[in-house]
Amino acid sequence: MSVTAAQQTLIDNAIAQLRAGGLVGIPTETVYGLAADADNPQAVRSIFELKGRPADHPVIVHIAGAAQLSDWAQDIPDAAFKLAEAFWPGPLTLILQRQPHVPDAVTGGQDTVGLRAPSHSLAHELLKQFGGGLAAPSANRFGHVSPTTAQHVRDEFGDALPLVLDGGPCEVGVESTIVGLVSEHPTLLRPGGVPREAIESLLGLTLEHHQKSDSAKVRVSGLLDSHYSPRTPLITGPAAAVDNEAYLAFERGERAVLVTCGPRDHGVCGIDVLTLAAEPEGYARQIYDALRQLDRQGYQHIYLELPPHTAAWLAVQDRLHRAAHVRLG
Ligand code: TXA
Ligand code: MG
Repeated sequence: MSVTAAQQTLIDNAIAQLRAGGLVGIPTETVYGLAADADNPQAVRSIFELKGRPADHPVIVHIAGAAQLSDWAQDIPDAAFKLAEAFWPGPLTLILQRQPHVPDAVTGGQDTVGLRAPSHSLAHELLKQFGGGLAAPSANRFGHVSPTTAQHVRDEFGDALPLVLDGGPCEVGVESTIVGLVSEHPTLLRPGGVPREAIESLLGLTLEHHQKSDSAKVRVSGLLDSHYSPRTPLITGPAAAVDNEAYLAFERGERAVLVTCGPRDHGVCGIDVLTLAAEPEGYARQIYDALRQLDRQGYQHIYLELPPHTAAWLAVQDRLHRAAHVRLG
């Protein structure tokens, strides 16, 4: 990528900040990240402090590309190289055996490390020039909605995070797909930007589901139930059920909003309605920003119609399931 002089100044500032052990908000194609030098345990610990995240949760190390896999991981299976070649740079995180030097602050004390090469051009250029790895979780306070614009990051942290690189709105809008490659059989730990079927067809196998009972072995904080949540109570369910609840709320005189998946006739007169995209890519780009906007509008409840239960909607369904305070059957 050819960077403009203005972008190069931003990258220079970011690198100076990172080398000094500071934090920088960075754009990626999925969501914005809160980045620190992955080789600096003290800097990584300050990510957890700022986010309010429990210290034993591992963070992903972002690298420029597959050439750096072996800087961070060892005993790398062929499947990892295959996946990196097909989907990097892009929204895919690989969980591999870590190199011994990877700080415990990064891995949460586990013997594995999560690696991802983001495709966002500014992030990619920053990583290339920085040379090392950047530990970065999503740039939101623990449990809150992930950020998909630089303004969302500023809203989360204010003056506590002086430098946020503005790379525009995120193109994917939901987090990376996480694939575990440390057990016998590759495992889907989090659905995300790369569709599950694309991974399965490349590897010629079916990914195992992460089971909650495995969580003692592999901790994925995105798997906690209360996650990605707006502050306003969010009620999700099939269209008929949320329409009905929204109607009752309206009758009670509540300030409520109905969020639909594509335009449709909901029959709830008088209530505020927000219509999101009817297809998964567009919806994914909109959902976190929509939840943040609705939060600011002071509604008592958000009633959200769930999208179809089909493979194409897997990542969005997963996030909505975790974000919901009440799920209607
Ligand atoms: O798209 C993304 O993945 C974004 C952007 C910024 O890259 N990052 C992101 O980070 O979503 P975070 O920390 O919000 O979620 C990463 C998930 C967490 O649930 C974490 O527990 C899991 O990845 N993770 C990281 N390293 C791991 C490891 N070694 N083993 C198991 N899970 C791991
Ligand atoms: Mg997160």
